[in-house]
Amino acid sequence: MQLQLSTWPEVETYLAKSKAILIPIGSTEQHGPNGLLGTDALCPEIISRRAGDEGGILVGPTFNVGQAQHHMNFSGTITLRPSTMIAAMLDWTQSLARHGFERIYWLNGHGGNIATITAAFSEIYHGVTFAGAGGNRPPLRCHLRNWWELPGVTDLCRQLFPVGEGSHATPSEVSVTWFGYPDVVNHTAMSPKIAPHGPILDAADYRRRFPDGRIGSDPSQASIAAGEKIVALSVKGVISEFRQFAAS
Ligand code: NI
Repeated sequence: MQLQLSTWPEVETYLAKSKAILIPIGSTEQHGPNGLLGTDALCPEIISRRAGDEGGILVGPTFNVGQAQHHMNFSGTITLRPSTMIAAMLDWTQSLARHGFERIYWLNGHGGNIATITAAFSEIYHGVTFAGAGGNRPPLRCHLRNWWELPGVTDLCRQLFPVGEGSHATPSEVSVTWFGYPDVVNHTAMSPKIAPHGPILDAADYRRRFPDGRIGSDPSQASIAAGEKIVALSVKGVISEFRQFAAS
């Protein structure tokens, strides 16, 4: 069930049985020669929507622009300042809380977002406390889960791609997007086959170190079949964790 494809009476009915919602969150940034700019938002979105259908979970719109400053020397990347992202996450959360949502599960697709999401949770909780909330049960909780850290998912990705998984524009994340959007399969050859590793600094430095955008990866290994396996395991993990969180 997707929020943006629901009517308000349907959301009101959902709220009568659950106060929990799932929000996919990611980034719009370059993902190498054959990865989509939306990869980090599409992966959690694809997993969330399937979890929503299979688990009866309400899934909100995807928060699809995040922390992408060091990708800004590649065309198409869009970034938010941390302060803008925190403010936007606060407004999304307060809007949902106003309707009665008490548990917001954020399924994240971008490692670069983690610090800012954590800071946004702090901002959100300050607002709750300053508004005078009391009692032993927290009135509003947020939960962050990176999709690749769901139970067994990192191990599965390593099994599928023992060489060249790397850390940016990985064959695993590209596979997930290809599973979701089979029309975008793109077998561009990689040169070098496995991209270099190195530190992430400024945007200009990033492009010098990683000229085609990849870090340590060979996403030419990506496949729809791998994406299907990764999505299936991730969906199972999300449904189980979401239910526990909703009941907490
Ligand atoms: Ni990514």
